[in-house]
Amino acid sequence: MNKLKVAVIGCGNISVMHLDSIEALDEAELVAVCDIKPERAAAAAEKYHTKAYTDYHEMFAKEKLDVIHLCLPHYLHTIVAKDAFQAGIHVLSEKPMSIRYEDAVSAVEMAEQCGLQYGIIFQCRYNTPSMLVKKRIVDGRLGAVKCGRTTLTWYRPDNYYGGSDWKGTWDKEGGGVIIDQAIHSIDLANWFIDSTPVEVQSSLHNRNHEIMVVEDSAEGLIKYENGCLLSFFAMNNYLIDEPIEIRLVCEHGTVRLSYDEAVITYDDGTVESVVNQPQKIVAYTGGKPYWGKQHAVQIDQFYRAVAGLDALEISGKEALKIQKIICDIYQNDDNKFAKKQR
Ligand SMILES: NC(=O)c1ccc[n+]([C@@H]2O[C@H](COP(=O)([O-])OP(=O)(O)OC[C@H]3O[C@@H](n4cnc5c(N)ncnc54)[C@H](O)[C@@H]3O)[C@@H](O)[C@H]2O)c1
Repeated sequence: MNKLKVAVIGCGNISVMHLDSIEALDEAELVAVCDIKPERAAAAAEKYHTKAYTDYHEMFAKEKLDVIHLCLPHYLHTIVAKDAFQAGIHVLSEKPMSIRYEDAVSAVEMAEQCGLQYGIIFQCRYNTPSMLVKKRIVDGRLGAVKCGRTTLTWYRPDNYYGGSDWKGTWDKEGGGVIIDQAIHSIDLANWFIDSTPVEVQSSLHNRNHEIMVVEDSAEGLIKYENGCLLSFFAMNNYLIDEPIEIRLVCEHGTVRLSYDEAVITYDDGTVESVVNQPQKIVAYTGGKPYWGKQHAVQIDQFYRAVAGLDALEISGKEALKIQKIICDIYQNDDNKFAKKQR
């Protein structure tokens, strides 16, 4: 396989997970980085021995790129993805795909029309505990999920938002604890349930933040076509980042899952458990513990799909499922918090 020529757009917090992965993977060569903040582009270019751009249009014109990685504020993801498709470039975007569902749908359609790969990062699906639970649901040992709940209690004080020019805003982030943090755990539960949501109920609040205007607390219920009920609770008013928790009641047992471990208790009394192991050993030079270590696994899978060696696992089309749920949570908020604020 010829090395893919890749670039990263957005050199903020998460970019290190992409840049370290690119450096560690044989299939790709980093040819440029881009950030509108020149000092961030320059620092990443120096660290990873590559070229720096501050305008991605200029980078598209000057570099012959196969793939771009998008590590941008949420509202820019589909805008830049569509520009890339127009330039014939495959796109791997950080979550969420977009703020508005319609934008995500049109980006997926455009990728299909252009015959390009469009992947969305949900690296928690590649945590070994998540993979074991999915395997046991699919192979029938656990069987289908009948009911579930997800809990996230994390710490995002006002100064977390004060340090960002886009987080905590409706127009650039698109929401708070749901679209940014709980999206991963709700995606995991939805992936396990693997049925179509028929009703999404939610209640959103900002209970304890002054600088940022989006929700810091959310709870609700998702009803599925197959009868499964998923309850969710998420809030950013805790003092530490507790491990997220997903509980599932399945046909033949129950599951307790966090990003770090899974404990499956089967109805016959046997217990199966696993702790998270990095599947690709990459010397990540930054990142937060709860991001896990699986970015390189998903990036590798994406490159194999671009090379035609594999079907893309978390495609834009697949990610539309969680995008629809996230957008419905904001749309259906019975507190009308999002609508009052916008
Ligand atoms: N997968 C995960 O677990 C995970 C974890 C953290 C963040 N993320 C996601 O990664 C994305 C980025 O988050 P972050 O925390 O790194 O944000 P950040 O603010 O640290 O970085 C974003 C960068 O984009 C740059 N930028 C803005 N407009 C640009 C433009 N037009 N052209 C080029 N660069 C531009 C900014 O200057 C900034 O450096 C978000 O979608 C976020 O939700 C995912």
